[in-house]
Amino acid sequence: MTEPQIIGISPSIEKIRQLIRRVADVNLTVLITGESGVGKELVARALHYHSRRREQPFLKVNCAALPGELIESELFGYEKGAFTGADRLKRGKFEAAGEGSIFLDEIGEIPLPMQAKLLQVLQDMKFPRIGGNQEIQNRARVIAATNINLETEIQRGRFREDLYYRINTISIPVPPLRERKEDLEPLIHFFTKVFKKEHGLDPYPISDRLMKLFRAYHWPGNVRELENYLKRLFVLRNSDEIETEIQQSMEEPIPERVQGNGPRPAEDAIVLKATQEVQAIIDSGRSFPSLKEIRDRAVERVERAILEYVLREVNWNRREAAKILKISYRTLLYKLKDMDLRP
Ligand SMILES: Nc1ncnc2c1ncn2[C@@H]1O[C@H](COP(=O)(O)OP(=O)(O)OP(=O)(O)O)[C@@H](O)[C@H]1O
Ligand SMILES: [Mg+2]
Repeated sequence: MTEPQIIGISPSIEKIRQLIRRVADVNLTVLITGESGVGKELVARALHYHSRRREQPFLKVNCAALPGELIESELFGYEKGAFTGADRLKRGKFEAAGEGSIFLDEIGEIPLPMQAKLLQVLQDMKFPRIGGNQEIQNRARVIAATNINLETEIQRGRFREDLYYRINTISIPVPPLRERKEDLEPLIHFFTKVFKKEHGLDPYPISDRLMKLFRAYHWPGNVRELENYLKRLFVLRNSDEIETEIQQSMEEPIPERVQGNGPRPAEDAIVLKATQEVQAIIDSGRSFPSLKEIRDRAVERVERAILEYVLREVNWNRREAAKILKISYRTLLYKLKDMDLRP
């Protein structure tokens, strides 16, 4: 196993790198959480790499890809004759991992009955193969990951609370890329080197325009999405298509999953447009309006659009509109006159 490189200069990535070293040799289950593509598997591999288990296997089980019964035989194996079709003994991943690490990816997708079984194995540290009675010791270190919120799943009755506390003794949350945009440059630099080495892809310069888009974008697919865009750029050697795609996806409504405290794409799009306009003025050498002027104009534009929209919705019932907008009727009339707005 080559050393997994967790690239980034953000404080959160720095903290994750430290945490990995601190808990690598602690024999407690680790739960890695975060959106799709943030680097959960990478963190899991780094944990294994920095532990004394490095020379032992690192085995991954994708719990989302397997139906319940198959997860059981995948994890614990079965004896010959345990069920029809079990024509020979098969060792499960826990057994095969030996003193290595077992990575339970998408653990939130394990069906409830299997959750009970898993909890029992984690508590007893031993298990029989399906259809067997000999107990096998579990010496593997368990690392779990999920991109769904297990606390919500518990509330919905879809995840066992006791299993959650059992696996969550050490948790490593990996924040989405949009909350650590300072990592963009080091990641780009890193992928550029990797693509050259692994695919013989020559680097292609990233235009200022594309870089600005990268900084404004909300990255719903996180680092994996960045990796894909870069790979395409280096193959196509032209960024028009990619720029259009990012711009379009910034104009789409925000997926619920992506809404958080971080910047919103809709706002990002407004900010991006504003900075582009400002840049155009600077480039043209025209004299720059004062910030106050810019703000007043922007406020007026937004207000006008909202007023028009609300009034249309209520068929120009001004009292109703004032109520919705939480302004007095008089203020509304004044604004309509001032903006010269009529049905
Ligand atoms: N900090 C990082 N430094 C370098 N590469 C990274 C980093 N974060 C993610 N990557 C790369 O991005 C890709 C996606 O990462 P990974 O598969 O670990 O994400 P994940 O969180 O497991 O995603 P999913 O939930 O979709 O399975 C991988 O190629 C990984 O190597
Ligand atoms: Mg993954």
